[in-house]
Amino acid sequence: MLSVQGLSKRFGAAVALDGVDLEIERGAFTCLIGPSGCGKTTCLRVLAGLEPATSGVVLSEGRDITGLSAAARGVGMVFQSYALFPNMTVSQNIAFGLSRKTSPLVRQRRVDELLQMVGLPGFGARRPVQLSGGQQQRVAIARALAPEPRVLLLDEPLSALDPQVRERLRGELKDLQRRLGVTTVMVTHDQAEALAIADHIAVMRAGRVEQSGAPQDIYDAPTSAFVAGFVGAMNLLPARVSAAGVVEAAGLGSMAAATAGFAIGEAVQLGIRPEAIVLAPPGMADGVGARIHRREFLGAVVRLDVLAGVGAVPLLVDVPAHCAPLSDDALRLVLPPQRLRLFAVD
Ligand SMILES: Nc1ncnc2c1ncn2[C@@H]1O[C@H](COP(=O)(O)OP(=O)(O)O)[C@@H](O)[C@H]1O
Ligand SMILES: [Mg+2]
Repeated sequence: MLSVQGLSKRFGAAVALDGVDLEIERGAFTCLIGPSGCGKTTCLRVLAGLEPATSGVVLSEGRDITGLSAAARGVGMVFQSYALFPNMTVSQNIAFGLSRKTSPLVRQRRVDELLQMVGLPGFGARRPVQLSGGQQQRVAIARALAPEPRVLLLDEPLSALDPQVRERLRGELKDLQRRLGVTTVMVTHDQAEALAIADHIAVMRAGRVEQSGAPQDIYDAPTSAFVAGFVGAMNLLPARVSAAGVVEAAGLGSMAAATAGFAIGEAVQLGIRPEAIVLAPPGMADGVGARIHRREFLGAVVRLDVLAGVGAVPLLVDVPAHCAPLSDDALRLVLPPQRLRLFAVD
């Protein structure tokens, strides 16, 4: 539905966007993620028409809308800080974006419908100050949806909320989006949030999209060490390809891994997810020796912070809580070859 091609944005000498390519599917929930300062907000503002692009184009159903004003694009926008009008009631806030030509009766009906939709029936007469943070953000979402935008753009809409409200609201937001079928682009720096609700994720880095795809694909098949480390937890170890199908990880020794695409002798980053590392049963000689340095009880899993191999290489290992070793005695770890991923050194 929206196609962003080679989008660049400079603020004086500062490059905020450096050739962003992005496809946004109709009716999908797309999340833009990346570290602070990578250009997420700028990208959203250019999409909204709030900021002119330095170069590149934004196409909507194939039509060039790069020069179109925000008002002409049919986008609804929600920001991190609630940005409600404090001196207006909730109803007035929601009705703000409706056309002046809308009759009072139709206006009231639409506001009531939206209040119902965001789970705040009967809250119309309140002022923003009489609402919790989560309620204010629901009102902001209702206000953005009021004029029936073709695209809903959300810039870290949940970041200011406490974790419980945040998790509940993200589920509701996803339900609402699916029910309305409105094409949505949400910016977040929280990769777990994106994995939880997005249909499609674009990972940004330094003004570009480094990888995009379905959450599971991004998680299972990151194409760079950066994406691997940014989405989910990933152990990344310096290593070298010592022969076809063999890597030598610093401090851990040789191990089997798929080395296709890398030259013999090439320096690489070896990646393995904490949950992919297996504890060898006691008495087995397999794997590498390790000792537990610290353990974190996370509820369903225990995250072990271990020092492994002759080099005492720090590794994170996630084990189901009921399988966690009872003592901090030495253990052996197996790094299954099919779970090892090689990345080019940055
Ligand atoms: N109005 C502006 N003037 C100058 N520099 C800006 C402006 N807006 C953003 N930038 C710069 O552009 C880069 C990207 O910013 P932003 O899009 O806000 O990143 P993010 O939302 O990913 O944290 C940053 O280096 C930021 O300092
Ligand atoms: Mg931002």
